[in-house]
Amino acid sequence: MYFNRNHEAISSRRQFIKTATAGAAVAAAALAGLYRPAAAAEKAIPLLFPVLPYPENALEPYLSAKTLHIHHDRHHRKYMEEVIARVKGTDYQNATLEKIIKDTYGGITMIETLHLMAVMAWNHDFYWKSMKPKGGGEMPPRLKKAVTEAFGSVDTFKTKFKEAAMTFGSGWAWLVLDKGKVAATYTSYHESPLMLNQMPLLAIDTWEHSYYLDYQERKADYVDAFINNLANWQFAESNLPAAAAAAKPKK
Ligand SMILES: [Fe+2]
Repeated sequence: MYFNRNHEAISSRRQFIKTATAGAAVAAAALAGLYRPAAAAEKAIPLLFPVLPYPENALEPYLSAKTLHIHHDRHHRKYMEEVIARVKGTDYQNATLEKIIKDTYGGITMIETLHLMAVMAWNHDFYWKSMKPKGGGEMPPRLKKAVTEAFGSVDTFKTKFKEAAMTFGSGWAWLVLDKGKVAATYTSYHESPLMLNQMPLLAIDTWEHSYYLDYQERKADYVDAFINNLANWQFAESNLPAAAAAAKPKK
């Protein structure tokens, strides 16, 4: 059987990744071998576990301090620590989560694990920003206009967003900008609109860990509370101009 040198190198690298035990050092070695050095223009900002944008009890009575503590300080922290450990010593240790997510998309084994962890870290940070104390209520004008143009009315949007959030299983519902138009979407498990060429504007985590302590099987009540009392429409609108510019088709 004939193998050229390149094929052999790839095969042995794949074998190395497949057979190695999970661990930060191995993942770092795999990354260093598979990817070119980061561009000099890459901003050297170390990856850090982000703090909540409000106190843990700030979203009560809709989400308890206990839920936020466990969700942020244990679940989200774990995802971020996994990313940091896996990129330590590589050109990616100062990269943004967005770059890591895009560069590791479609990878295998540990590269794939890094991708999944990076998506979960990014999604959670975005989810915290998608809520605020005394949220919900009237949308700011530009967001309201974009939503009304796409859905016909804010109420129709809320119905579609709730339908997306009620998709069975663990995942995320999103308000995104897709081809210049806002849309309500859903991604499963560790998926992200970033990989679908959509620009996220707002997100709700629908993994059971995000609501079970407060709502148990009443997921619909959690989604209603998010839409009516927690959603940070101002944050969604603040993402709109950048999203609109990025989504503009290139000539
Ligand atoms: Fe979560």
